[in-house]
Amino acid sequence: MKSTADLISMKNNDRIVMVTAYDYPSAKLAEKAEVDVILVGDSLGMVVLGYESPVQVTLDDMIHHSKAARRGAGNTFIVVDMPFGSHHADVNEGIKNGIRLYQNSDANMIKMEGAESFDVIEGLVKAGVPVCGHLGLTPQHFGITGFKMQAGDTQQAEKLIEDAKALEAAGASMMVLEAIPMDLAKKVTESVNIPTIGIGAGIHTDGQVLVYHDVLQYGSDRLPKFVKPYADVNSVVEEGLTNYRNEVKSRMFPSEETTYKKRVYE
Ligand code: KIV
Repeated sequence: MKSTADLISMKNNDRIVMVTAYDYPSAKLAEKAEVDVILVGDSLGMVVLGYESPVQVTLDDMIHHSKAARRGAGNTFIVVDMPFGSHHADVNEGIKNGIRLYQNSDANMIKMEGAESFDVIEGLVKAGVPVCGHLGLTPQHFGITGFKMQAGDTQQAEKLIEDAKALEAAGASMMVLEAIPMDLAKKVTESVNIPTIGIGAGIHTDGQVLVYHDVLQYGSDRLPKFVKPYADVNSVVEEGLTNYRNEVKSRMFPSEETTYKKRVYE
């Protein structure tokens, strides 16, 4: 399995491939595809639990899903998200929650959205917890920002560059840049010594992350502009389940081959 140091040393050498996964089968398949990193993202709230946003996702949800992903992918580096409200109210509370997540999730690193929790990150890194930051569009703030591109003017772009530097200074080992202009992502990537992982941030980041259910078109029917689908799981599953239904209705299934024939009644 890769280490935090391995991922940092991939900057400028090799692109980091990250995909989300939230359970045993999705993580198992991600490991088979040899991705570098699995992200147990709080996007699970939307793509797995059916919420409108990640806001309802809890620390217990993240621990539960991360442990399931680990059982599916024993040899892949796993990053797990700190959920909404778990790191904002109070620095000590944020550090405690981060330690609880790291200690109980079987993940290798925790991820924290936004530019408001640098002191929490510093405390966690001091305690020995590897941390990934997340700037640009931070879906936990969707109630304020909506789901749209961020840092679209020079002032906001400069602030984001400063935040990225502060994130690195706080001890983060990696950062996600979501839904920001490509030239800004390039500038941020050149301004820090830790890897940047883009999603809707163009080609110049050190790596790329996409949501499992988007990249495979699995359950999701509306894809963001920045997603390229690489499979159509929706059609495969729909066809399979329709065929199953039709064969049960028409008594084609169960068949001879799928039936135990030992007689217990004379
Ligand atoms: O929760 C998530 O899946 C994420 C990615 C979109 C980066 O944070």
